[in-house]
Amino acid sequence: MEKLIINGGHSLHGTVDISGAKNAAVAILPASIMVNKGISIIDNIPDIADIHCIERIIESLGCKVNINNDCVSIDSTCLNNINACTDDVRKMRASYYLIGALLGRFKKARVELPGGCPIGVRPIDQHIKGFEALGAHVNIEHGAVNVHADRLIGANIFFDVVSVGATINVMLAATLAEGVTTLENVAKEPHIVDVANFLNTIGANIKGAGTDVIRISGVKELSGCSYSVIPDQIEAGTYMIATAACGGEVTLNNVIPKHLESISAKLTEMGVQVIENGDSITVKSNGKLKCTNVKTLPYPGFPTDVQQPLSTLLSIINGRSIVNESIWESRFKHVDELKKMGANIKVEGRTAIIDGVKRLTGATVLASDLRAGAALIIAGLIAEGTTEVKGIDHIDRGYPNIEYKFNKLGADIVRITYNEEVL
Ligand code: EPZ
Repeated sequence: MEKLIINGGHSLHGTVDISGAKNAAVAILPASIMVNKGISIIDNIPDIADIHCIERIIESLGCKVNINNDCVSIDSTCLNNINACTDDVRKMRASYYLIGALLGRFKKARVELPGGCPIGVRPIDQHIKGFEALGAHVNIEHGAVNVHADRLIGANIFFDVVSVGATINVMLAATLAEGVTTLENVAKEPHIVDVANFLNTIGANIKGAGTDVIRISGVKELSGCSYSVIPDQIEAGTYMIATAACGGEVTLNNVIPKHLESISAKLTEMGVQVIENGDSITVKSNGKLKCTNVKTLPYPGFPTDVQQPLSTLLSIINGRSIVNESIWESRFKHVDELKKMGANIKVEGRTAIIDGVKRLTGATVLASDLRAGAALIIAGLIAEGTTEVKGIDHIDRGYPNIEYKFNKLGADIVRITYNEEVL
């Protein structure tokens, strides 16, 4: 097993290159298996465990996958298996995109139910509602989703909740359906637009991604293309918050500042300087920050995926901050770990009441999920003394080269292998 040892107390200075967006790439790779002519070459793919998992899964379906640094080429013309039932499928959330992609291309699929971060109940009823509206029969048996359709026919679908996963999954299936599909009350996250752009590049006809209504005119076939994934809004937000917490001046390269507006606005309100410059953004903090309240919301609201890092920052700001998590029912598992480091936080349902303390102190803490891990790394960076972060396999699922990137900015993080003591 591995853990990170962090010696805290260093301010951050320099530049950091932001990688491609995890939540776009984990949908675009499954989307590429719908291509039946030519090869897809996709770059700016982040080097993270969730991507390696998806690559193994699509290979197991019969695709030829070649990886060259951050560029992946996929030949899906020889795909011959519609059963995605491996441990990798069960491990990660985004494997559910194989249902929409296989259903679109072959009108049938069998995909194990997905895993992912333990942040609350994660139903897929809206995905199923969408597939059924297109004419598919769906049942869940022995832990797998079985879908099949004689024909997929365009339909009007109004989602009951705004869901990133359901929006993308139904968009995938509808791409190869007959006629026009209209999706209403859809998610508008930057990765929704990126997946739609990728699909249009391989020959789909999708309009309206990034608004509340997406219209998809079904096409008969899709052809390979070259495509570059957008930068990761959440990785960028994490480094912005870390800089605010540690103090210093960091320029983030390869970002789309527009995607970061809610994070930039919140940090600015707290007294952090955020300067946009083309595809980079500079964050300056002198450590004298104001407490604030925040509520997580679908895009363009404040993203749930940086709520945990932000709550670490708020834990050392004088005064009371209130954090309301409106997307996930159980996304405060990092709080008990922050308390071990001296934070004063009370969780009531989906609200965290944070009374800022003067400092955090190093401790051994356990990451329960991906963004909890990022929150604990930031806690270690600002804490007095040494922090050990365990459970870092969660962090490796979503943050490429995290200790290398932080160390380049002046942090002191070492990854070590250890054997868990058996009592
Ligand atoms: C995606 O999860 C992201 N994961 C999550 O990021 C992110 O937190 C989330 O969107 C919200 O932005 C990936 O893209 C792989 P949802 P997803 O469907 O698609 C409810 C990270 O840290 N809902 O938008 O699973 C659901 O319970 C991860 O990178 C239904 O009720 O999220 C939740 O309350 C964690 N029925 C809300 O909608 C459904 O059928 C939003 O979920 C689907 C969702």
